[in-house]
Amino acid sequence: MRVPGDKSISHRAALIAPLASSASVVRGLSDGADVRASVRAMQRLGAAVECEEEERGLTIRCAGGGFHVTSAPRLDCGNSGTTARLLAGILAGSGVAAVLDGDPSLRSRPMRRVIYPLQAMGARIEYDGEPDRLPVRLRGRATGTLRTLRHRGRVASAQVKSAVLLAGVLARVRVEVSEPALSRDHTERMLAGMGVPLAFDPGRTGAGEVRFDPSDWEGALGGLRMTVPGDPSSAAFLIGASLLGGRTVRVADVAANPGRIGFLSVLEEMGAVVDRDPAPTQGGEPRETWTVHPPDDLRAFSIGGDLIPRVIDEVPLLAVLAARARGRSEIRDAAELRVKESDRLAVLARTLEKLGVVVGERSDGLTIRGRGGRLRGDVETRGDHRIAMAFGVLDAAGDADLRIDDRACADVSYPDFWDVLEPFRDTSRRAPSTRTGRVIAVDGPAASGKSSTARSVARRLGFVHVNSGLLYRAITWWALDRGIAEDEPSIEAAVPGLDVDLVPAHDGFEVSVAGTRPGPGLESSDVTARVSAVSALPAVREVVLERLRRAGRRHEIVCEGRDIGTEVFPDADLKVFLVADVGERARRRLRQRAVPFTEEDIEREIRRIEARDRLDRSRPLSPLRRAPGAIEIDTTSMSPDRVVDAILELAASAFR
Ligand code: S3P
Repeated sequence: MRVPGDKSISHRAALIAPLASSASVVRGLSDGADVRASVRAMQRLGAAVECEEEERGLTIRCAGGGFHVTSAPRLDCGNSGTTARLLAGILAGSGVAAVLDGDPSLRSRPMRRVIYPLQAMGARIEYDGEPDRLPVRLRGRATGTLRTLRHRGRVASAQVKSAVLLAGVLARVRVEVSEPALSRDHTERMLAGMGVPLAFDPGRTGAGEVRFDPSDWEGALGGLRMTVPGDPSSAAFLIGASLLGGRTVRVADVAANPGRIGFLSVLEEMGAVVDRDPAPTQGGEPRETWTVHPPDDLRAFSIGGDLIPRVIDEVPLLAVLAARARGRSEIRDAAELRVKESDRLAVLARTLEKLGVVVGERSDGLTIRGRGGRLRGDVETRGDHRIAMAFGVLDAAGDADLRIDDRACADVSYPDFWDVLEPFRDTSRRAPSTRTGRVIAVDGPAASGKSSTARSVARRLGFVHVNSGLLYRAITWWALDRGIAEDEPSIEAAVPGLDVDLVPAHDGFEVSVAGTRPGPGLESSDVTARVSAVSALPAVREVVLERLRRAGRRHEIVCEGRDIGTEVFPDADLKVFLVADVGERARRRLRQRAVPFTEEDIEREIRRIEARDRLDRSRPLSPLRRAPGAIEIDTTSMSPDRVVDAILELAASAFR
């Protein structure tokens, strides 16, 4: 896949290229509303910028030479903090008068963080409405009247750093900016590439520092020629959708600036495998193609400290992944999220909680306990694009049923997002099971302990235990009885009209087929030998699926099998995927037979189980795999009681 051009680099190209003294051509800019706001603002300022839509995003051409304004224009920055804050620095540095304003979300975000240092440099700026908020009025002043500044930022902010640097460069006064942790350094890289003497350390982590010293500089910015690489923050959503759906994804030509891709290491902590393939650097910006492979089971993560600026825009996505990960994830030191397009910590906490996820909210972070089962509810995005897209990912690929109030807000950074997300949609959801009662789905490979576990869980909850394998065995038994067990076309022809069903018995269900209850006959070795082939027939699977769903409409059930969470009840309240080491599974199977066994018996059983696993996983129809949203439990070193208790605990939170 490819994603739109990086928004941060696009803003800088749109805002800085027109300031060069020679011509620039930049291709592949983001075509989202935010970057368009930057382009429009420069045009309103009289800069010679032409903008054209091409297949891969916007192309801008600028003759260079800066602005030519006569009266102070009002510049609408829309939803875009980067436009407002970088422009504040550009206007202050050029001594140009203008008013900066934005939409209600942008009007609620803090501006003092840029206005204060610019005022400290001598810029004349006033708040037109409330202090610290847009609109702000830049009074303009003669060039050459700004003072040098050493700014020590309290928070890591690329927008503040960029505003001060741009003001210094345009006013040709020495500036230094330090920040507690390095924020993205696109402005530094771009200005350095245009010939500006900057001292900074590209790609470093930890605290950040950049210095501009005009002493030996002749003062002209060279033109800019580059193609903007793909936006890692947009790629993150597609990667997140793939991980939730258990699929591998490749995203080509993404910006790999170290200040932006902290989320890759978080995904690795969650168990994903990330292959990174570098492409030639352009405009000082590294780019890469990524192939991301999902783990069987997403693990919880813990993030904080100087990683936060490098994952700052990806936290909404990481939070929805945390809701599906095994264990409790933690996000610390992220108070900055409260002043993004929305108060993202509050919105994430409130929304996830409404969906039934256990969340703790602190002033600077969240804790999120992952869970399986279906997530249902309303999402109020507060017009925040990243909130809308994060929950969009959860809805599409994460076994959920979410109503997102404002999808259109994704347009600010990713106009085609909802179309692009469509192929990630979990297809099994297209045929809802229309169950009425509560359903727990238990899947897993041969001898993973499904039956005994599902039976005990059902008993403890007062649910009915449904074993899909019994239906497959009953059909196989009937085919053997009729002498057509090897005659697949005959089975397929007869099975849709076959009277086969689950009938209530004293402990769960029994199966009745063609008026008979085969009982122990279902476990005969003849049945065992044929059941795999019979259950691979589409007509057989269809009948079994229908009977299982019928049971789900009538009872509260714990249903076990190999495709219960993926096909039969993709909307189950809780989905569990049991796994165990193959040696342990072989020993359990042999112990069930209650006769002594040797190492050789174990080896033979291992080979049998492995063969069955291969068959189950590779069959084209309903292959065995962990369903989206299913919680994997490795039972290798767990007692049966502990497995049951673990599921009951999950059920308690899924049913809340
Ligand atoms: C941006 C910087 C970040 C980021 C924002 C874009 C930029 O904000 O959250 O989406 O392009 O400079 P900070 O300025 O708070 O680092």
